[in-house]
Amino acid sequence: MGRIVFAGAMSHVLDPDYYERACGAEGRQKVVAAMAEIAAMGARCSAVKPGALIVVADDHLNAFSFNCVPAICVRVGRDVPRMVQDHAEAFDKVLDHMPERYPLHEDLANQVLERGLDAGFDLALSWEAPVDHAFLSPVNTMQGDRPIPPLVPIWVNCFVAPQPTARRCFAFGQHIARVVAASPWNVGIIATGGLSHFPELSLPRVGDTDTVFDRKLIHWMETGEHEPLLELTAGELHKSGEHEFLNWMVLIGAVSPARAVVRYFGELRRINLAAVEWTLG
Ligand SMILES: [Fe+2]
Repeated sequence: MGRIVFAGAMSHVLDPDYYERACGAEGRQKVVAAMAEIAAMGARCSAVKPGALIVVADDHLNAFSFNCVPAICVRVGRDVPRMVQDHAEAFDKVLDHMPERYPLHEDLANQVLERGLDAGFDLALSWEAPVDHAFLSPVNTMQGDRPIPPLVPIWVNCFVAPQPTARRCFAFGQHIARVVAASPWNVGIIATGGLSHFPELSLPRVGDTDTVFDRKLIHWMETGEHEPLLELTAGELHKSGEHEFLNWMVLIGAVSPARAVVRYFGELRRINLAAVEWTLG
């Protein structure tokens, strides 16, 4: 019987040069500190030897487009390429030095997908979509020079209304937990993005954050109070710049009722950086 053996969530723009340009020396110092904690989380993840690593992140309208915006999409196939963009944002340019292809855990991805459809989750699938900084910056920061476990990338639509609800993302996480429990594999899961910030998709609000709201979310995660998290509305997430917390809701559903431990929280005027790990029984 399989188990979730590691669970963590973290910011996914992990580029000291980017933050130095955006927020000065403080930006560099804080993201370097966050990255050190994420690397330590990676060492703990490697120590429990997951046979697969599920990565829940969002599309930044570069893997998909307005041509089709999947609510939740599972990447299937044997491997996945890192995204290559002619005019990449700085934080996607940091991918350039990273490996070009990553093996997938094909069986686990297929089971999440197939059993999901059986269970009433109308999931999208992709054989082709590449993965960007939202997947690869956390994974490479966690793993450093250690081999990267076979991945199961999952995209959640965090930015294009109407998004899936927080409650639905949590329920999907519970589905992932059931799939893992019925499988032979020990699995790690990470969710990426956030916390409070506005990306350039919301240009007029770039630079805003909502630290009070972040601290509320962190409190509920630390105490394992999941009911208020389930009631988060799209309007609240949009107003507070917590769009990417939907990724975290999938992870919270997968590990509920586990409690979170904050490894790093740092306020910046561009984004509030965070790295959180769950204590699993
Ligand atoms: Fe993002």
